[in-house]
Amino acid sequence: MRPEESSGLLRYPATAADWQARARRRLPRFLFDYLDGGAGGECTLAANVQDFNRIRVRQRVLVDVSAVDTRTQLAGQDCALPLALAPVGLAGMMARRGEAQAMRAASAAGVPFTLSTVGICALDEVCAAAPAGSPPPWFQLYMLRDRGAVRALLDKAWHHCCRTLVFTVDLPATGMRQRDVRNGMAHAGTRAGLLRAMQLLAHPGWIWDVALRGKPLTFGCLSDQVPGGRDLNAFKAWVDAQFDPSVTWSDIAWLREHWRGRLLLKGILDAHDARASVDCGADGIVVSNHGGRQLDGVASTISALPAIAQAVGGRTEVLLDGGVRSGTDVFKALALGARGVLIGRAWIWALAGGGEGAVRELLASWQRELRLAMMLTGCTRVQDVGSGQLEPDYEQK
Ligand code: FNR
Repeated sequence: MRPEESSGLLRYPATAADWQARARRRLPRFLFDYLDGGAGGECTLAANVQDFNRIRVRQRVLVDVSAVDTRTQLAGQDCALPLALAPVGLAGMMARRGEAQAMRAASAAGVPFTLSTVGICALDEVCAAAPAGSPPPWFQLYMLRDRGAVRALLDKAWHHCCRTLVFTVDLPATGMRQRDVRNGMAHAGTRAGLLRAMQLLAHPGWIWDVALRGKPLTFGCLSDQVPGGRDLNAFKAWVDAQFDPSVTWSDIAWLREHWRGRLLLKGILDAHDARASVDCGADGIVVSNHGGRQLDGVASTISALPAIAQAVGGRTEVLLDGGVRSGTDVFKALALGARGVLIGRAWIWALAGGGEGAVRELLASWQRELRLAMMLTGCTRVQDVGSGQLEPDYEQK
């Protein structure tokens, strides 16, 4: 039983699971399930988390750890800890102006925020949310059939000073998310009503914005592209029709031509694909199975990481997401060969449960936890964390 279920609403949520419980209480069921759920029987979703829990860390003592430093660089950007917020579509439904809140929290914590192609807040709003002097967000791209629209998005991102593009390659079509089917989210016929309800129920702020002030809901980066503008149903239909399943490695070359900044390929789970990513000029990869939301039955990301890191680790930046639920998990990912991690559900649960402040608290607590893991394994710099910090069984992987 989760702590919150046994003792009423927790006064001081401490962990990602506490924020998950709070999000469950706050959000309408279908919205919570959209965040929380995965594909099929959710075995890969569960394995992402469980496989982290199986890893055993090697405790070392009597090392001078008075000056532990969690700082690093990800995609050439200084970060207070080896972590970035992963792109989450429709995040702005979970809290009023949700992506802007998350951007502020990430900036305060000194880590990058990634804005999804299918976010609610537009790039200019998210960029404006960052305090002066802090780096702009990373931008996540889904390839659209309309390459002109893609170019317009890239231009817009560049214009807003985004320099890191996260290109998601594991979504030729949307996975079979059975909770969304059960809740009607996946049914075209009921979509309009449900999305309208989402808009109004997700947060009282929406009622103020949308119903009282008549301010239309926008679809972030895509608002200009969608014919018919701001109608929720038109947007969903347009996006579904625009996902391009014909994308291949040659499109990466096209992207390289049109994007001058850093390019990370997100959704790599295979060592061959990792090598191909390096060969086609990507600056980095994100080992990812989309948080278990695409194909149930594929490997957990942490179990896939060692072989991928071994194949390409020295030649490109290897990041990982999926199942990271604590600062100690961040440590474990580093030990198995990642340079850093992206987190998805953890931040969106916190955002839904307590807004910007909750995301800040979560990140601060994970930084403390990572620092502790480093102290208790005798590491003072993140670069020192490697397979030597794991029990011997894990060293050879
Ligand atoms: C996602 N993810 C995702 N990825 C992406 O590239 N673009 C997107 O728009 C989204 N949208 C999205 C919505 C929701 C509700 C979730 C939970 C996830 C995947 C996300 O970036 C990341 O890969 C996973 O969330 C990582 O797994 P964890 O941290 O959620 O276990």
